[in-house]
Amino acid sequence: MPWQELQPRQFPAFDKELDGISKQTMDDHYALYEGYIKKSNECRKILKEFDYSEIEGNQVYSPLRAVSVDYTFALLGFKNHELYFGHLGGEGGSPQGRFAEIIGGEYPGGVEMWEQAVRKAASAARGWVMVGYDLNDGSLFNYIMDSQNLWAVYNMVPVLAIDVYEHAYARDFGGTPQGRKDYVDAFFRNLDWDHVNRQLEQAEQAALGASQPALQE
Ligand SMILES: [Fe+2]
Repeated sequence: MPWQELQPRQFPAFDKELDGISKQTMDDHYALYEGYIKKSNECRKILKEFDYSEIEGNQVYSPLRAVSVDYTFALLGFKNHELYFGHLGGEGGSPQGRFAEIIGGEYPGGVEMWEQAVRKAASAARGWVMVGYDLNDGSLFNYIMDSQNLWAVYNMVPVLAIDVYEHAYARDFGGTPQGRKDYVDAFFRNLDWDHVNRQLEQAEQAALGASQPALQE
């Protein structure tokens, strides 16, 4: 179906008092999300209106190249924050359900090792940590991204997204390594594991669907 313009939506996390993450941080963060939507729509429109019979395709610099690259930044800025805001506002705690089952089998030290690993990944990343389900092999793993669009792995469906850009924590915790660690602890206190498990279920269903032979008419 043809693409529809992106629209900002409301998230339950904004109607709740989060533990450690202030309303002001969330509201400022939402404004960034709206900016990603605006620029995604703008870039997509430009890319559909170029005169491709005339436009230059130059790999050093060309308007086509610039908009194409920045479109991935804007679009993933939108997608990353949809997941991030969507799974805040929960009761936190340790991993639950199917997520715990898969991640516990992935790391030799089980869920406890993953909990350490994801926190260290959050200190090592410049933009995001994504815990992603791989549609090709059914595994869950931690991936770091240095910006909205850098190091994204295709066929990896993020089910848990930790925003470690300073805008996510500097106001509440300080823009220091320790501030970031304290923020990541707060993130996990507010995480909605049901949301994470719904994302995972959707990804597992998609993987299952893709492995089935096409329906015969
Ligand atoms: Fe962000």
